[in-house]
Amino acid sequence: MKNILKIPLELRALIVLLTWAVEPRYQHNSLIVRSNLFFLGGLSQISGTEREMIYLNLTFKANIRPWEDITASAPIPIDFYHGTSASTDDYTIYIFGGEGNKNNDKFVYRFTNEPKGNTVSWNDRLVTTGTPPSTNRYGISSAVDPIKSYIYIFGGKSIDEEGQEIINNDLFRFDYLGLTWDIMSNASSPTKRYDYTSTFIRGFIYYIGGIEQSGQNSTNIVNINEIYIYNTNFDSWSSNKTAGNLIGNRAGHSASSTSDDTIIIYGGSESIPPDVLTAAKPLLAVLDVVTLKWSAPSVQLSNGMSELPELAYHSVAIFEDYMIISYGNSMTDSTINPNVYVINTTKLKSIDSNPILEKKSNKNKIIIGVIVPLVVILIIVAIRIWYYRKKRPDDGISSMSTINNNLNNNNDERRLSNISF
Ligand SMILES: *[C@@H]1O[C@H](CO)[C@@H](O)[C@H](O)[C@H]1NC(C)=O
Ligand SMILES: *[C@@H]1O[C@H](CO)[C@@H](O)[C@H](O)[C@H]1NC(C)=O
Ligand SMILES: *[C@@H]1O[C@H](CO)[C@@H](O)[C@H](O)[C@H]1NC(C)=O
Ligand SMILES: *[C@@H]1O[C@H](CO)[C@@H](O)[C@H](O)[C@H]1NC(C)=O
Ligand SMILES: *[C@@H]1O[C@H](CO)[C@@H](O)[C@H](O)[C@H]1NC(C)=O
Repeated sequence: MKNILKIPLELRALIVLLTWAVEPRYQHNSLIVRSNLFFLGGLSQISGTEREMIYLNLTFKANIRPWEDITASAPIPIDFYHGTSASTDDYTIYIFGGEGNKNNDKFVYRFTNEPKGNTVSWNDRLVTTGTPPSTNRYGISSAVDPIKSYIYIFGGKSIDEEGQEIINNDLFRFDYLGLTWDIMSNASSPTKRYDYTSTFIRGFIYYIGGIEQSGQNSTNIVNINEIYIYNTNFDSWSSNKTAGNLIGNRAGHSASSTSDDTIIIYGGSESIPPDVLTAAKPLLAVLDVVTLKWSAPSVQLSNGMSELPELAYHSVAIFEDYMIISYGNSMTDSTINPNVYVINTTKLKSIDSNPILEKKSNKNKIIIGVIVPLVVILIIVAIRIWYYRKKRPDDGISSMSTINNNLNNNNDERRLSNISF
């Protein structure tokens, strides 16, 4: 299972294949289910809303097609973008809300991919009890408690009965085994906000960044040095100040956890849409949730990359020690970023116990984009690939073999030589 990742070249090849198969997008989600990487929804320049279901097998063997396109049998049932998703076991994906979700849709849809019986389908008739958020919640993020089988979803934007956009600060809990919804405590809860991130770590959920309501008609970028922490055991909130490096406020960023005590955030905008997105700095930052200290490790770029990509409304999935960053809005040139990047986070895990870094960040209080004299992260793959637009025939399956055939003929030599790592 793990062998493939010991060979960076194969991982590169794999990401290249992926870049060919999936259309670049933003406000999408990506999830790992078993070792399959799914891309869910989002908006693209060419087709608008993406309903395709494509996944990539990250442990594929040579000569076996690494991806599946199951759009023909299981298209995403709604226009899904700017929503949230979660995977709860090896076979199940939930998607929640989204900006394209209409009032006659449901808030939650479930996709199951059972190995036995070959059921690959969206369960449109999923019946839940209790009170879910209104169907059109968006700018939301979900946090999964895999021990107690709950998914938590906070706040976000929605459209009220008068058709006005409103911002919320209620916390919903979805029991994904019992399929019931509960509204949780709002005592000391965060301000009304959207485009934040939420990350579950050992019973606590960490809410970082986003855009908050600051007056009747005004919004602010949330102070990233004030982290709201929800205690799932006591159904209670606390608000905690962070220390360490100065990290720019942001929304539309990503947050993920590769170990039990760190959250890595990436990208995000310091301006509020519909203003032009501007990259918050540093692009990558790490929060130690034990000490609540931010650090801003420098990132080594692989050959062919001149800088870290400035992304917002991208997606991140964690596979073993690798953080796979995909697509999103490129803030450098206001386009949709066509690339997928992989960051090897192995060394990142130890940085907070590194006394040299600690001392540095205390001495120089205002450090943005600090160059730490340690190679902290290694970007192992950066794809500069000219964008291959898939020409999909009517049937998704044959489109796959089309791509497969392309990859097997001599043109590929030419294509691959255009990719610099
Ligand atoms: C990831 O980083 C670790 C630690 O530096 C290293 O041992 C491993 O080989 C790296 N993985 C790849 C695929 O380069
Ligand atoms: C991925 O591909 C490998 C080799 O083809 C296969 O053994 C494995 O079951 C696949 N994994 C998933 C999750 O489908
Ligand atoms: C908590 O929710 C109740 C019921 O919706 C509401 O009346 C109250 O204002 C909320 N409190 C806070 C602090 O948001
Ligand atoms: C907020 O906007 C609404 C509708 O545009 C307007 O009627 C209202 O007066 C505004 N309120 C404030 C405090 O500016
Ligand atoms: C956050 O603040 C609460 C209340 O002040 C405190 O009990 C808790 O220990 C703090 N958490 C962290 C991780 O510092």
